[in-house]
Amino acid sequence: MDLNDKVVIVTGGAGGLGEAYSREIVAMGGKVMIGDLLVDKAAAVAADLGDAARSQHLDVTDPDSWQDIVTATEEAFGKVTGLVNNAGASASGVRLIDESPETFRKIVDINLYGVFLGMRSVIPALRRADGGSIVNISSAAGMVGMALTGGYGAAKWGVRGMTKLSAVELAPENIRVNSVHPGMVLTPMTAPTGITLDEGGFPSAPAGRVGRPEELTGAVTYLLSDAASYTTGAELAVDGGWTAGPAMTELGQNSD
Ligand SMILES: NC(=O)c1ccc[n+]([C@@H]2O[C@H](COP(=O)([O-])OP(=O)(O)OC[C@H]3O[C@@H](n4cnc5c(N)ncnc54)[C@H](O)[C@@H]3O)[C@@H](O)[C@H]2O)c1
Repeated sequence: MDLNDKVVIVTGGAGGLGEAYSREIVAMGGKVMIGDLLVDKAAAVAADLGDAARSQHLDVTDPDSWQDIVTATEEAFGKVTGLVNNAGASASGVRLIDESPETFRKIVDINLYGVFLGMRSVIPALRRADGGSIVNISSAAGMVGMALTGGYGAAKWGVRGMTKLSAVELAPENIRVNSVHPGMVLTPMTAPTGITLDEGGFPSAPAGRVGRPEELTGAVTYLLSDAASYTTGAELAVDGGWTAGPAMTELGQNSD
């Protein structure tokens, strides 16, 4: 499996999971355009990756910003064959009914409207490349009813649904659309919760621990690659079993 000849826009690639996806795309032979609000951090990642990477300011909630990054990518690399809609804003941590309308709208704007704008803006470029692959980053919170995620959970369910209907609509044009659902992964988004990579440190997941960003990259690069040529409308949980069911330890069982 490789990403030779692939040109992928990764949103939110200045750090965390988006940076890990960007690095792996280049390691597998692809080219990457990193879009983020954090232009200096995005530029530093791109510079570290060399000629196969570029960066560009992107606000996923701004349609003009999307047009700019599509144009910049085609100018730099000739075509666009993939999009990873990864940029996101974290959950507010309060009950849905306690979330302010302003916070709800802001979180949904980035996590759901931003994904819609991304698909809407990049699909014409994928058509010019005779097809492509869109990977929408949802969450475990888009697969189960996860308390205290508010607009975040609502948006991530929306991303999952939007992925499915777009997969159906775009299949005749050789454009595949799939969603990836990370569980708890140690990144700048989740670091403030105090989570660590310790074994047994996250008992809610059957794996017993949180994930490392590099444990998510294979799911994304697979879906971007030709190895996934018959895979569209799928949802791939990468969550240490969190959404599969309660951990054995939660049931009072251990591995003996
Ligand atoms: N880390 C986890 O445990 C976890 C779990 C489930 C899902 N996810 C999802 O994975 C994705 C990446 O998460 P992460 O943990 O790496 O987060 P992160 O906060 O470390 O990185 C998010 C990136 O998105 C960028 N961003 C935010 N708003 C933007 C905007 N309007 N336009 C452009 N860029 C913007 C940020 O600048 C940042 O670089 C998110 O969609 C998140 O919801 C993460």
